Amino acid sequence: MTVVQNNPEVRVLGKPQNFSPPCCWFPLSRQKTILEYSFKFLRVSAHGQGIPIEAAMESKRFRYVSTRASKSDSMTYSFQDVLLKGFAPDGGLFVPVEIPKLTEAILQEWSRLTYPQLVVAIAELFISPEEIPRIKLSQLIQDALGSFRSSNVIETHHLTAPGHASVIELFHGLTLAFKDLAMTCTAKFLEYFLAQSQQHMNIIVSTSGDTGAAAMSAFRDSPHVDFFVLYPLGRVTEFQELQMTALAATAKNLHLFGINGTSDDGDDIMLDLFNDSAFAQGHNLSSVNSVNWSRILIQIAHHFFAYFQVHRDGERAPVEIVCPSGAAGNLSAGLFAREMGLPIRLVACVNENEFVHRLLSTGVVQTDATVKQTLASAMDIQMAYNMERILAKNGTNFPQNCSQKLSEVFVSSKTTDAEIRAAMKRCWDEEQYRVCPHTATAIHYHYKQTAVAGGEDTRRACLATASPIKFPEALTEAGVPLPDMTILVELRAKPHKVVQLKDKNSWIPSVRAAIELVSK
Ligand SMILES: Cc1ncc(COP(=O)(O)O)c(C=O)c1O
Repeated sequence: MTVVQNNPEVRVLGKPQNFSPPCCWFPLSRQKTILEYSFKFLRVSAHGQGIPIEAAMESKRFRYVSTRASKSDSMTYSFQDVLLKGFAPDGGLFVPVEIPKLTEAILQEWSRLTYPQLVVAIAELFISPEEIPRIKLSQLIQDALGSFRSSNVIETHHLTAPGHASVIELFHGLTLAFKDLAMTCTAKFLEYFLAQSQQHMNIIVSTSGDTGAAAMSAFRDSPHVDFFVLYPLGRVTEFQELQMTALAATAKNLHLFGINGTSDDGDDIMLDLFNDSAFAQGHNLSSVNSVNWSRILIQIAHHFFAYFQVHRDGERAPVEIVCPSGAAGNLSAGLFAREMGLPIRLVACVNENEFVHRLLSTGVVQTDATVKQTLASAMDIQMAYNMERILAKNGTNFPQNCSQKLSEVFVSSKTTDAEIRAAMKRCWDEEQYRVCPHTATAIHYHYKQTAVAGGEDTRRACLATASPIKFPEALTEAGVPLPDMTILVELRAKPHKVVQLKDKNSWIPSVRAAIELVSK
């Protein structure tokens, strides 16, 4: 930690002068490599194999540690701790101590489950029945996913050609983005614990477009939660902004702030509040950004579901799960699914904000000076904080096999706006199927691979992370005809509420004051 702290090239999120976790550190230098910065591969992969479920019945099951804990650190946390805290006390992210390894018999059984049943089966492996009894857990998840626009919760579209790709539509929740899946379940879990303890909690998220509406919809009218959302003004689509401002006008417990900055600036504000541990503790502050393990836990199910959609015949050949990536939440969930025994390879598709691509393809840990605005705006993120779940900083020894291990699991692909437009257009022209600009980064990867020898043979599942209807501007730019936009017209007609913070100096004081005001 000291090496990094004294290095002027390191970007510090939070308060540099008064370091107290949580805080994230990333080097800015173009020269530094992952080796020089001595990242260690996260426990989950360093230990590699996972443990049989039977053996996992021992004491470590259902316990969590911080990504920043040393091997000798015996401090572990329950699911409830992890859910309520969001960040680990040392500033790291929570990961399970042990990953259950699934047998072929379980994989076979799971391949016949509906999506909600799959979520329940996975949650049962990571949440102790003493914390949430099994019947209650299943009820909470069924209730959460019962609000979806599709009775199947997730739909699948199999691309007709070329090669073999299934598009896994994760966007049939109330706010039309994949965030609804994990956010609705997380809200139910939180309400369950808060109702038991009769506690009040202030929750804050920073959004690049979709998390805000999903969270506001999931926590609307929650009797135990006041919810604060930060979004970057002018950097989300009209549809996304109207969803949030309309939701904010419907419930007293929802507080929306538009800041004149980027979504990374929103993350910085959030971290600054958490860095003031007296403030964070005093106001019972937490976050349900994908820093929160509960979100990652539910998202593990995407990967199993996607795999079984590709291999409906019970085959166990490897599948590439192609993930449009921003903060790397889906990638990190995929890594856990893989460790549990799912034969997948993960493809990280980014837009022109290429932190994750650079790290995975070259080992260089480096952010650009600014966040680029792209058509896939919800992925306009430099600081992919979930990479900490994939790599945990060590500061001393770097395992020789880390880069090799990463390349066994991950492939990455960068997509320009022109390539996003081309993929959206081609998909429409070839099969009258609309994809959003984020999903287009995955479709672009598929098209690119099918153009190279042998690339057609690989089985792929492309995660469709948002409904195309949220991005009419991008559809039009790509030359794809708009679908029925009644929903946008209805959104425009609703009452709206937002506090706009245009002066940078007002960001933190205003959000702090709002939290202080509602704290009970
Ligand atoms: C539509 C869409 N696609 C992709 C992403 C990136 O997801 P992740 O944070 O899991 O990398 C986001 C998240 O902000 C999103 O809203």
